[in-house]
Amino acid sequence: MAAKKLQAPRGTFDVLPEDGQRRRELLRRTGSVLGRYGYRPFETPVFEDTDLFARGVGESTDIVRKEMFTFEDRGGRSLTLRPEGTAGVARAYVEHGMHKLPQPVKVWYAGPFFRHERAQAGRYRQFSQIGVEALGSDDPSVDAECILLLSELLEAAGVHEVQLKLASLGSLDARAAYLDKLRGYLRDNESRLSEDVASRIDANPLRAFDADHEGTKEVMAGAPRLLDSLSGEDADHFAEVRTLLDDAGVSYDVDPTLVRGLDYYTRTVFEFASAKLGAQSGVGGGGRYDGLVGQLGGPETPGVGWAAGVERILLASEGNLGGFPAPVFVAIADGGTRREAFRLVTALREAGVRAEVEQAGRSLKGQLKHADRLSAKAVAIVGDGGLEWKDMKTGEQRQVSNVLEAVRIAVGVDA
Ligand code: HAM
Repeated sequence: MAAKKLQAPRGTFDVLPEDGQRRRELLRRTGSVLGRYGYRPFETPVFEDTDLFARGVGESTDIVRKEMFTFEDRGGRSLTLRPEGTAGVARAYVEHGMHKLPQPVKVWYAGPFFRHERAQAGRYRQFSQIGVEALGSDDPSVDAECILLLSELLEAAGVHEVQLKLASLGSLDARAAYLDKLRGYLRDNESRLSEDVASRIDANPLRAFDADHEGTKEVMAGAPRLLDSLSGEDADHFAEVRTLLDDAGVSYDVDPTLVRGLDYYTRTVFEFASAKLGAQSGVGGGGRYDGLVGQLGGPETPGVGWAAGVERILLASEGNLGGFPAPVFVAIADGGTRREAFRLVTALREAGVRAEVEQAGRSLKGQLKHADRLSAKAVAIVGDGGLEWKDMKTGEQRQVSNVLEAVRIAVGVDA
């Protein structure tokens, strides 16, 4: 009996070579944009103590309640595959005493994240994020810079026509006062709310803004809005972020109902959405989290950042992320040897030319067809009659005296 074929687990996917190429190119462009803004690469482990996410992301969030991949290691410690990156970066900032470095500390990361969500197009159980965090400054220019950065990155990735939603949740104190007011309003209307929302009035009243339930939506249409009660420094901070974005020519919609799925946010929150993505329209989002580092046992330290989904960027991208230049293909004709061909392909690669060589025993005709499939710009043929160079664009074929001359043609010195 034939052995049973295995499949990748639900909600995960294999990155096939063509997509791999687009992902690489996206990361290359990301590194270049982020470097210009002074962000440096940073890595934290793929799993952390479960406690970090419970405390950092928030016990009442969907992520912590329902979506974490949590397991015990052999020593009985509870570990969790990271569902997001900010808590890990904040933990590392405290652990390495990074508050002693010049502030703000600006870092970026890219890698796999895990959430046990219902899988569908654009929503996976293992996905990749690119993210940035700037810790140690509450200056509104860091918020604006962050947003500008994501906007520029999306543009560089070929994601056009995005909508930027922007709001402010106020400082921790203002937010606490507002949440009390909102809880009171929700309790007064409890009978019209969905069971889920009603059960979370104490723990997470903001989620009510996010509900699909009709009765809840009606109640929320009349709910007090945090943005309306922003005052003092919070209002000034938000106004300044908006002025800086206006100056930079970034367009946005102020959305008082914008709710993020993580508990650590204070003041600025934002989200970029693309209509090309359908139901999972969020390409990237983030905000300020001035209480998080303190909450994890570090010195009170403001922070702001965002993360964007690599798969969603690629789904929404209309740009050419193909990347690779057209190769030279080294073909072996009658009388030509593997050794000669290998020497030539090696010399071409050493000279910085992308080159491939016949490795499947095809006839010369088959090799030329294969070169065409690779979109080769030229084919170098080693055979009886020495070395020939065929330009695939013009079809012109000529004799070449040796490897050095072939390399010179390939790099364009002799063109
Ligand atoms: P988030 O909004 O939960 O924020 O995720 C950021 C982005 O990750 C989303 O906009 C989406 O593109 C992508 N994403 C999230 N879940 C999935 C999924 N299941 N499948 C595919 N893509 C997904 C955060 O994670 C925060 N840590 C962002 C942040 C950084 N805030 C401050 N600093």
